[in-house]
Amino acid sequence: MKATLVIENISKLITLKGENRPRVGQEMREIGLIENGIVAIDGNEIIYVGEGNLPSHIEVDNDTVFIDGTGKTVTPGLIDSHTHLVHGGSRENELAMKLKGVEYLDILEKGGGIHSTVKATKEATFQELYEKAKKSLDTMLSYGVTTVEAKSGYGIEDFDVELKQMEVAKKLDEDHPIDIVSTFMGAHAIPEKYENNPEKFVDIIIEEMIPEVSKKGLAKFCDVFCEKGVFSIEQSRKILEAGKSYGLIPKIHADEIKPLGGAELAADIGCITADHLVAASEEGMKRMSEEKVIANLLPGTSFNLQSGNFAKARKLIEIGVPVSLSTDYNPGSCPTENLQLIMSFASLIMKMTPEEVITAVTINGACSLGLESKKGSIEEGKKADLVIFDAPNLNYIIYHFGINHVEKVIKDGIVIK
Ligand code: NIG
Ligand code: FE
Repeated sequence: MKATLVIENISKLITLKGENRPRVGQEMREIGLIENGIVAIDGNEIIYVGEGNLPSHIEVDNDTVFIDGTGKTVTPGLIDSHTHLVHGGSRENELAMKLKGVEYLDILEKGGGIHSTVKATKEATFQELYEKAKKSLDTMLSYGVTTVEAKSGYGIEDFDVELKQMEVAKKLDEDHPIDIVSTFMGAHAIPEKYENNPEKFVDIIIEEMIPEVSKKGLAKFCDVFCEKGVFSIEQSRKILEAGKSYGLIPKIHADEIKPLGGAELAADIGCITADHLVAASEEGMKRMSEEKVIANLLPGTSFNLQSGNFAKARKLIEIGVPVSLSTDYNPGSCPTENLQLIMSFASLIMKMTPEEVITAVTINGACSLGLESKKGSIEEGKKADLVIFDAPNLNYIIYHFGINHVEKVIKDGIVIK
């Protein structure tokens, strides 16, 4: 076997090797660390991972590129498994209100929040949405992210806008080095038109939108904003079950602000992830651990909403719920593409250890997107998506917060930066 790229003398090679399934409890601290590590890549695939030198069956020649990993930390490409990547406009106009203490759900109820992004997304052309999202992807990649989930949800009743968002995501998946996985989230807000008859909108999502999204192959997942004043538990259940019957894997924005029972619903339905969970009940968290629903935690959103409430990451890990971490990048509740900052928040605020944090944004993130057979760890046969951090160890990346520690990103075996 011939290597096209070799990264050698890696001070700290964090492989995350192990079974391709969500890691729970103590497993979230087992990061497969190799000191003086070496990785060989052929094309877009990892062909060797070990310590010291290459074994004789891995050949190199004049075309093989060598990178020196002395003093560096290398991890799998980071996975941001919850974003609202494609949208028009921005919402810095809400900052003054937020600083005065006006709450997220009140801004939404008064026709702002998600509704104002719906308007901006409707007004934006395909090309404008594409350029804006591409710029975000460039930033994400520079921070070490190689796979991103992207939700629709800023068209709501305007199905053409929902489709436009998913088509932009599809085109960017083709054009941009980052891999994009798409989620249909028509159930993101109740349109003003249906305020007095939300059941009608639920029926439209179920009868018209989901079948069409599935037929066009535009999404892998279906998501609902299950929240007080948005979609109820019963409406969310109906929508996610309908999605399931059309092959869309269920995800849910659960118990983000009010404790509605979203975590319990996620366990009942068999959601792949339940996201946010800031207000999740004890019973809901327990049910998630029984059903192995992944808790996708988004501490950047708690930070931005200034509620002072964060998901109970320690509790979730202790009772055996697998945890992943994401930005929730969106123009309202978390306008940042910086997953490294979220990693620091997870540790400094939610008390996750650096080992748990890196597990959450690699193998568990891959599991949150159903991509664990090809991504999330540095192992033979997996995709050659890796990050070289200019950092002597993992703790350094987390503790020295708010800056970008990435030196180079390897995406599909190609050195990006
Ligand atoms: O995950 N909560 C619903 N959706 C996003 C926010 C979207 C927005 O405010 O534009 C979230 O927080
Ligand atoms: Fe979200």
